Amino acid sequence: MMYLDKMKFLPLFVMLITTSLQPAYGVVVKGQEKLVIAHRGASGYLPEHSLAAKAMAYAMGADYIEQDVVMSKDNALVVLHDHFLDRVTNVATQFPGRARSDGRYYAIDFTLAEIKTLQMTEGFSIENGQQRAIYPQRFPLWRSTFQVHTLAEEIELIQGLNKSTGKQIGIYPEIKSPAFHRHHGKDISKAVLKDLQRYGYTSRTSKVYVQSFDPIELQRIKQQLLPELEMDLKLVQLIAETSWHETLIYQQDKTIVYDYDWMLRDDAMVKIAQYADGIGPWKPMLINIDNVTNVPRSNGMLGAAHQAGLVVHPYTFRADTGRIPDFAMDFDDLLKIYYFDIDVDGVFTDFPDKAVEFLRKAQLAE
Ligand code: G3P
Ligand code: CA
Repeated sequence: MMYLDKMKFLPLFVMLITTSLQPAYGVVVKGQEKLVIAHRGASGYLPEHSLAAKAMAYAMGADYIEQDVVMSKDNALVVLHDHFLDRVTNVATQFPGRARSDGRYYAIDFTLAEIKTLQMTEGFSIENGQQRAIYPQRFPLWRSTFQVHTLAEEIELIQGLNKSTGKQIGIYPEIKSPAFHRHHGKDISKAVLKDLQRYGYTSRTSKVYVQSFDPIELQRIKQQLLPELEMDLKLVQLIAETSWHETLIYQQDKTIVYDYDWMLRDDAMVKIAQYADGIGPWKPMLINIDNVTNVPRSNGMLGAAHQAGLVVHPYTFRADTGRIPDFAMDFDDLLKIYYFDIDVDGVFTDFPDKAVEFLRKAQLAE
């Protein structure tokens, strides 16, 4: 049994040993640091936000590993992309009758002990009563054993690996739907910051970026919570299309959709720089594509961001079939366009190994 366990994790150990010889920080190409941020871990290979996906991302040489964070009924911080449990777990079969009227199973309605009883898997949708993997070429549904974990459990994994490998890999927590949580009486931002403080992330030199789509909450973090907790962390404003309804503002029993359009205007970066250190735009927001040549060019957002002193970390770079825009020849070409033609400082990717290897080759070619 022990031999079998060792064999199962052998590729991971080999990767850990070989990557521990790689530099501990982002690759510097042409004098500029370029980061690889593992989006929900190595989520192109293992179920998103599983601890296995985080260990794999670490072993692949990512510079930062992302955590999306939501809160349970009993105030535990759990690492999940949605504040629902039903896209990645068997909650519907384990807790029938616990969905809200919209049919969704909200993490905030379950205790951590209940959430820990669930099996976690690749993301799926339900079509004609059947589960369908959102990425059919990725890790198969319901194979092996994965579980939802807490933010603290993930930080301990990453800090433990930092100790055992001698590297200093960072964390990149996203505070999910803070207004929704506050509407339910939960100050998720304060809880996340307290956990970060507990694990030693307190200053601007700490290897952490705190991200959120909610600009009202980010300003509250900058102006109220960080000073109150005697912390000073780097903050990243994520930018969504208004039409996604990503951020809701609660007014008594009504919600209104936050309008992101101002963030796409010329003077936005100077305003964002008053409370944040970087932006995380959806990657098409950075470019215009020439109608005739199909060549993408920077539309000025990146230049304005750099001018304002902001780093730029767009999302999400996926190598799956059908996920590479037609202006790029392949995934490497897509990375080249964004890292070097557009000049972003880092990318969120489901395939950190590919971005690490791309940057390594670019550095060697200098
Ligand atoms: O946080 C960066 C990127 O992850 C934003 O998109 O929806 O995957 O959290 P999402
Ligand atoms: Ca995220």
